[in-house]
Amino acid sequence: MTRPINVAVLGATGSIGRQTLDVIDRNPGRFKLFGLTEGARSTNREAEYLVQGHAGEPDFDATVEAMVTDPRCDLVVVAIPGARALAPTMAALRAGKEVALATKEVLVMAGELVMRLAGEKGIRPVDSEHSAIWQCLWGEERENVRRLIITASGGPFWSQPNLDLDQVTVEQALNHPRWSMGPKVTVDSATLMNKGLELIEAHHLFGLPLAAISVCVHPQSVVHSLVEFVDGSLKAQLGRPDMRLPIAVALAYPDRLPDAVPPTTIQELSGLEFYDLDEKRFPSVRLAREAATTGGGHPAVLNAANEEAVNAFLAGEIPFSGIVWAVERALSDFSGCKGTLEEILEADRWARAYVRQMDGIRPVG
Ligand SMILES: NC(=O)c1ccc[n+]([C@@H]2O[C@H](COP(=O)([O-])OP(=O)(O)OC[C@H]3O[C@@H](n4cnc5c(N)ncnc54)[C@H](OP(=O)(O)O)[C@@H]3O)[C@@H](O)[C@H]2O)c1
Repeated sequence: MTRPINVAVLGATGSIGRQTLDVIDRNPGRFKLFGLTEGARSTNREAEYLVQGHAGEPDFDATVEAMVTDPRCDLVVVAIPGARALAPTMAALRAGKEVALATKEVLVMAGELVMRLAGEKGIRPVDSEHSAIWQCLWGEERENVRRLIITASGGPFWSQPNLDLDQVTVEQALNHPRWSMGPKVTVDSATLMNKGLELIEAHHLFGLPLAAISVCVHPQSVVHSLVEFVDGSLKAQLGRPDMRLPIAVALAYPDRLPDAVPPTTIQELSGLEFYDLDEKRFPSVRLAREAATTGGGHPAVLNAANEEAVNAFLAGEIPFSGIVWAVERALSDFSGCKGTLEEILEADRWARAYVRQMDGIRPVG
């Protein structure tokens, strides 16, 4: 019998992290928890590596690098939100590890560099939409793919067209109708920036042009995304909104884990709805598409400005509508750069400083 796969989990105390531990616990013969990072919270787990603290704190970065490059480590699950996940992801890929990536911000910031490091074996997506597309593409020739369609639940405000987005409270923004997630990604879902980030993520993961990737609103979150082929076929992956399934798919690839989640019943498939995205009210996807089309440091600016603005909103410093407005301002004032790692990191720093010094971020009119 072969030994269990040694898994390191970055961000083990979070929503994705805890669900990853659950998948590992339920499959002890297949997976072993090799290492983990914990921040302010604790999992009460033991492993070869237990790294406590946050990125940038003494010893954290060095110890994490040692964990993800350790020759005994097979697979690294990346679930620390935001730009701070970039360095450990790149370290793991440089060491030839399999990477299961939940943190979409990594590919938004530096998709070309990261995919080049991943090489032929690529990256295993954990995001449910990208897992769906990945599964639809198994066994297919890439030249037969015409289009990717990413589904969006629409978040809590999409179905309330008369709601004044300036008045939205933190509590309302954190009340996602379908998914239970960490605060950053939940706010991103409410602004629809999450779909903008996912659009760029899909472009890098699957190597399709941005023009061949679209977003539609599907409030039930049962169809996780679709692929259209050149012969007119449409393939979709369906299931309940339960992240343990895409996590299980990423961990077990190319195998499947029995009973990873309860099966979806035929009754649950009735009444599925699909709508066009209202890009006027929710301009995030357009902004992301434009930033990715420009390339260089623009996607990193989009990402960093968004992270800073989401933090400011969560701290009660700016209105909800100020988030996307701040991102738009940062993108339009950024002078641009090419896409080396140093330039991307500089663009990230520039955008954070830009948003922090904005005086009372508030859209005009
Ligand atoms: N949740 C979902 O369903 C979902 C779905 C798709 C994609 N994603 C993506 O997955 C990533 C993680 O999301 P999540 O919802 O699991 O987040 P979360 O619940 O907020 O958990 C974040 C994890 O990262 C740790 N962390 C936070 N700041 C850190 C820092 N500065 N340095 C090191 N560790 C830090 C946290 O530790 P402590 O809390 O212990 O401090 C926690 O373990 C995000 O990029 C998100 O977009 C999430």
